[in-house]
Amino acid sequence: MTAGLDPVTVMKQEVGRAAANRVKSGSIVGLGTGSTTAFAIQCLGERLRSGELTDIRGVPTSFQASVLAKQHGIPLTTLDEIDRIDIAIDGADEVDPQKNLIKGGGAAHTREKIVDSLAEQFIVVVDRSKLVDRLGTTFPLPVEVLPMAVTPVMQAIEKLGGKPELRMGVKKDGPVITDQGNMVLDVTFGAIDNPAELEKTLNNIPGVLENGLFVGVADVVLVGEIKDNHPSV
Ligand code: 5RP
Repeated sequence: MTAGLDPVTVMKQEVGRAAANRVKSGSIVGLGTGSTTAFAIQCLGERLRSGELTDIRGVPTSFQASVLAKQHGIPLTTLDEIDRIDIAIDGADEVDPQKNLIKGGGAAHTREKIVDSLAEQFIVVVDRSKLVDRLGTTFPLPVEVLPMAVTPVMQAIEKLGGKPELRMGVKKDGPVITDQGNMVLDVTFGAIDNPAELEKTLNNIPGVLENGLFVGVADVVLVGEIKDNHPSV
């Protein structure tokens, strides 16, 4: 185990590394957001520095991912400059048995959905606690909303049976603002019967940019776990 790190962090590191080790030279790589993907980005940087991996370019899903990628020496590109994404690595907040996801705990789900959906192969990196039988049972659904439309969007969501809450920053002195300059509603629906339908219905409300339901997007889910205090993937 890596010295000084707690078992949960080591497990995130291992699952991130397992995903990064699947990246081949010459690939265009979608770089997700969050604490687990951060380890994948770190590992990609290490593989580049060692010469084991060459000629990759990253497409970041957030400001956070782009800063991390630069710190680890990963060359970046944009969707305007490429015609494919070979592989994307990203975390999730919930994963159901059909590999449908709730994402957006880091308020980055709008860009994440664009990049992850374009990838030839999308690998999800999570720990066992993210696995659920039905989406919506442990994590509220993030919905990115234009600031001027927050009130009508909240009313429309309540009519659908959801309980929306404006996401506040850590210090609770103002709302979280996304990389696009928008706000995030965290919506409690309880167990979601039909994620595909709810995904479309929410995105049809004027003022909604994107919601955190990722239906039919993930190809592979790598799950980290801790048994007898030992992390594994
Ligand atoms: C960001 C996300 C993250 O991928 C998700 O919140 C998981 O993060 P972590 O790996 O830190 O648990 O969707 O918008």
